[in-house]
Amino acid sequence: MPSTLRIAVTGAAGQIGYSLLPRIASGEMFGPDQKIRLQLLEILPALDALRGVAMELQDCAFPLLEEVVITTDPDAAFANANWCLLVGSKPRGPGMERSDLLQENGRIFVGQGASIDAHAADDCRVAVVGNPCNTNCMIAAAQGSRLGPERYTAMMRLDQNRATALLAQKAGVAVGEVSDVVVYGNHSSTMYPDAVNARIAGQSAPEVIADGDWLRGDFLETVGHRGAAIIAARGLSSAASAANALVDHVRALNTPSDTIHGLAVCSSGEYGIPQGVWAGMPVRTTAPGAFTVVSDIKHDGFALNALEKTGTELAHERELVGDFL
Ligand code: NAD
Ligand code: LMR
Repeated sequence: MPSTLRIAVTGAAGQIGYSLLPRIASGEMFGPDQKIRLQLLEILPALDALRGVAMELQDCAFPLLEEVVITTDPDAAFANANWCLLVGSKPRGPGMERSDLLQENGRIFVGQGASIDAHAADDCRVAVVGNPCNTNCMIAAAQGSRLGPERYTAMMRLDQNRATALLAQKAGVAVGEVSDVVVYGNHSSTMYPDAVNARIAGQSAPEVIADGDWLRGDFLETVGHRGAAIIAARGLSSAASAANALVDHVRALNTPSDTIHGLAVCSSGEYGIPQGVWAGMPVRTTAPGAFTVVSDIKHDGFALNALEKTGTELAHERELVGDFL
């Protein structure tokens, strides 16, 4: 690991950025000994707000934070970056689907993908949060070949955390008792949060929660529409939980372990998901920043049907952004 990690964050003056940056700078994302240089990208109208955020970061006096660069130039933000956290993009409003943002947000990832490929560090990892995050990640990865698709992941961790918390609540156990929760497919209402293969206190989740109607009904519905429920309640999309999920995503991807966690990765056709789209999959981290897809999890007919639906939606999104690829 280099002595100081360069972390590029886009949309850094936005809601998620405001929750995320102190958590990176305090050491929660990369560990308590890792020095950090933040390279923050915004568009011009948000540059003043970003200056304010940079002042607040300075006022936190984080011992690990060596420098904060603020810029409107993607090439400067991504220069020698070891991680690029792509948050900057428009959030949906009430009544919208995330895919309604495909054209407007998708084009952002064309320019940023090209800039990352040209300027980021050779060991760079890219994590995409801006919605629709799976397809935006595919767009960014398509803009170059230096890093390779396995360096690009999109965030399914918020869905995983939502599903984990809900299972824990239903089972009446602590969140830490729930493991092996993976959310497959698209970060959209077609996502498939797999409770069948989840574990609760060492047992399979359906053994502990013997309520198949809930597991196939309210559970899937609540996780799949949680983002919309938060927008309806707050008038704004999730931010603190999204930032928290990104901390978890990066930490899990940097920590080799036998533990299964979920990321959207470039599909090689596992679980019937079309090749080449970015889909939530179960992975194990094999080395810092590297993973293998766990491809032997068993699914019943109900799950396979759900996987086909979400995979088809991702392939359809790919067609809609064909001009960006
Ligand atoms: P926000 O509007 O508060 O902040 C977004 C920021 O991005 C703004 O400051 C804006 O100026 C900036 N921005 C816009 N275009 C940019 C560009 N080309 N380059 C750099 N910055 C740019 O939104 P937010 O609540 O922080 O959400 C950001 C994105 O994250 C949205 O697309 C939202 O839907 C998505 N999101 C994803 C998840 C997930 O689980 N994947 C969860 C929550 C939110
Ligand atoms: C979420 O899941 O909370 C985010 O993707 C925001 C949204 O648009 O739902």
